[in-house]
Amino acid sequence: MGEEKIIIFDTTLRDGEQCPGASLNINEKIEIAKQLAILGVDVIEAGFPVSSPGDFEAVKRVAKEVRGPIICGLARAIPKDINASYNAVRSAHRPRIHVFLATSKIHMKYKLKKAEDEILRLAVAAVKLARNKCEDVEFSPEDASRTEDKFLYKVVDAVIKAGARTVNIPDTVGYSTPYEFSEIIKGMRQNVVGIEKAVISVHCHNDLGLGVANSLLAVLNGARQVECTINGLGERAGNASLEEIVMTIRTRNDIFKGIKTCINTKEIFKTSRLVSKLTGMPVQPNKAIVGANAFAHESGIHQDGVLKESLTYEIMRPEDVGVMGTNLVLGKHSGRHAFKERLKALGFILKEEKLEKAFDRFKELADKKKQIYDEDLETIVNEEISKIPEELKLVHFYIASGDRIKPTATIAIKYKGKFFESTSNGDGPVDACYRAIDKVIKIDGKLIDYQIKSVTSGKDALGEVSIKIGRKSDVVSGRGASTDIIEASIKAYINAVNRLLHKESHKL
Ligand code: KIV
Ligand code: ZN
Repeated sequence: MGEEKIIIFDTTLRDGEQCPGASLNINEKIEIAKQLAILGVDVIEAGFPVSSPGDFEAVKRVAKEVRGPIICGLARAIPKDINASYNAVRSAHRPRIHVFLATSKIHMKYKLKKAEDEILRLAVAAVKLARNKCEDVEFSPEDASRTEDKFLYKVVDAVIKAGARTVNIPDTVGYSTPYEFSEIIKGMRQNVVGIEKAVISVHCHNDLGLGVANSLLAVLNGARQVECTINGLGERAGNASLEEIVMTIRTRNDIFKGIKTCINTKEIFKTSRLVSKLTGMPVQPNKAIVGANAFAHESGIHQDGVLKESLTYEIMRPEDVGVMGTNLVLGKHSGRHAFKERLKALGFILKEEKLEKAFDRFKELADKKKQIYDEDLETIVNEEISKIPEELKLVHFYIASGDRIKPTATIAIKYKGKFFESTSNGDGPVDACYRAIDKVIKIDGKLIDYQIKSVTSGKDALGEVSIKIGRKSDVVSGRGASTDIIEASIKAYINAVNRLLHKESHKL
């Protein structure tokens, strides 16, 4: 038996953008829409075209420029909106108009001030008008989860007869609970004759934190389209999160038997970060699937388990959502196993006794510092456990540079106790210095990274230069600080050369 596909309808650019403070300009919307297409969503709801000229233009450009998914525009059940929506999406390869009209008593009475008959008439007229323009029409009875059952069935029946291909059941205010919501979907399937002519969709908000659970229960009860957003972005507490829905269906295939999505899950993390960057909405570190801590372990017991077999504490492979591997965070809860592995990854293989000393130092530091970085570990190993001898030392330097002369450096260094002086020119003053040093000591390496940052503030700020030198399969780093950035650069180079010499002569 073939697998049944769940249509992933992404509304990050419409409902997601309704999140306070998350507005996007047109180019940002295009960039996200292109990434959503790479992610493999089936439908992109690109905006609400009538709401502003900017939104209209954005939907129009997405429709023109993004190929693959259906491009959808939202519309209230009035001709002006439907016309705007159609004009915005019409150039898409596969356009869709999404019409909505509230059907709950509370919305009809206070917001729309209309009776059931009028609502029914307007819904049918809107769907017919949309169908005259576009083959693919979706209808949403807004606030469906708080709509009286019988009226909901009546509306759904009528809009399907009027030509809606998808009926979307929104839990607009995130009020429903999983069991209750699944009963609504079940009820519709049992009570609406001809329901099979349309795809049942769900659109769950997260006010009670149940958006994903409600959507998934609906899937188990026959919904075949899920409306969701990247990072769960959306009005108030947001919408159901795309990544959580997709990864639950995939990870718990034993429960979601015979059901699949066509999402390229390896693109999830990248898409999440892009949406976060462009909307300015940070992803909470403990957010499922895409949070910074989703695949991070700090406890020693967990780290030990993950190193032995990742399935002990990981139910998904980080690579499957595009995260580059498990992150074993070194902190005060970490154990020897993770510490040793991290040192190994940094190129340090210590004998048992030295490892113990280093581990003690690490624990001391971890009590003072929340997180221990690779640089801290390098310092512990290099400077405390095995002091790196300064075979190469700077004595003094002289530099001539300007925009009319070729930068030239003269460097005086001591190498293995002997004094050397050498002069060279280069592409810039730093390059000239490095070439001058290379003339004395041929390290035959390649500068693969050079970074400079200020470590204090003000005009007399201390500059810190960090570099990486690669030679054959060895990569070493070096650091130097000075108020003179040329001097900091020379110190960093000399530091890296000393490490390289030490590494060669003294494999720990
Ligand atoms: O939450 C909602 O009801 C909506 C509709 C427009 C589908 O966003
Ligand atoms: Zn919504």
